Amino acid sequence: MERKEFMSLVGISVGAVILQNCLSGCSSKSDPTPSGGTTGGTTTNPTSTGFTGNAASSKGTIDFTIDISTSDYATLKTNGTALVVGDVIVARTKAGNFIALAKACTHEGTTVNFLADQDRFKCPNHGSEFSTSGAVLSAPASSPLKQYTASFDATSSKVSVK
Ligand code: FES
Repeated sequence: MERKEFMSLVGISVGAVILQNCLSGCSSKSDPTPSGGTTGGTTTNPTSTGFTGNAASSKGTIDFTIDISTSDYATLKTNGTALVVGDVIVARTKAGNFIALAKACTHEGTTVNFLADQDRFKCPNHGSEFSTSGAVLSAPASSPLKQYTASFDATSSKVSVK
């Protein structure tokens, strides 16, 4: 094998390794979880076990109950967590209080994240921040998130949102 041919093969191999490392490093699996809190769960009007009522504003008044003893909603057994249920983000503060706000940022509609460590909600799109009552803390959003009443019955493990 000629030296030039050998160097060409080495160059291709090194390039392939670098490309592979870049692609694996850039995959969505490596996306960080928002610090201090999590969101997730169902994004449409749920019909799963543990859910009753309506969580879709397009179908009328928001009024639903979730059972956090069921697997779909068990995340909320832990303080400092959040779940998106239909059009609502239901959060449990680090102190254990339940909060329910409209999930869609009032700027352009992106689903907000709950930052439990800071007791606030933050939009991942342009950075608007909202208090636990939905008030705007940081622009560009200028309108508050709609707040719902969230109440927890520890005996039945159910959270009611309306
Ligand atoms: S969509 Fe939320 S800040 Fe722009």
